[in-house]
Amino acid sequence: MQADDLDQVIAIDARVTGVEKTDYWYEVFHRYGTRGGRQRFCFVAELDGAVEGFVVGEVRDWEFGEPPCGWVFGISVRPEARLGGVATRLLETICGAFRSAGVTKVRTLIARDNHLVLSFFRSQGMMAAPFIPLEIDIA
Ligand SMILES: CC(C)(COP(=O)(O)OP(=O)(O)OC[C@H]1O[C@@H](n2cnc3c(N)ncnc32)[C@H](O)[C@@H]1OP(=O)(O)O)[C@@H](O)C(=O)NCCC(=O)NCCS
Repeated sequence: MQADDLDQVIAIDARVTGVEKTDYWYEVFHRYGTRGGRQRFCFVAELDGAVEGFVVGEVRDWEFGEPPCGWVFGISVRPEARLGGVATRLLETICGAFRSAGVTKVRTLIARDNHLVLSFFRSQGMMAAPFIPLEIDIA
């Protein structure tokens, strides 16, 4: 991901999620792009110079008592570019970066009702992990 990809990344994310998060994406780019180092990664897939999709993730060390692993926390493809293998390439790319960073396990978290993303990750071989998410409303 380059700085001049950001407008397109923000637009794809806004279309997919219904929320435009310009500041968030500049912060992500600052932390995962320019200053990503060896543990934080963000990639775009491009066709003829236009952004078709993106993926963001990082290696997290010993979180929840677990050995270092790669976390994918954002993957989206422009609706018109779907079902052409773009997300598959994006996931392969970030997994390659995770491997280079020395980890052999990849995790993600998805909403229970997001069947599209679940179908995608299942197609890539991902299975339910031996964890349960917990939350509490502290407002
Ligand atoms: C999930 C998503 C990233 C998949 O992108 P994509 O480029 O279309 O995926 P691919 O073409 O690489 O598909 C790979 C496999 O995923 C599965 N898959 C993808 N889209 C699917 C669909 N609509 N229905 C069922 N399975 C699907 C298939 O098994 C597919 O393999 P196949 O084409 O051989 O059947 C894309 O649909 C998307 O951006 N969805 C919205 C994401 C989102 O909600 N993001 C917010 C939270 S991060």
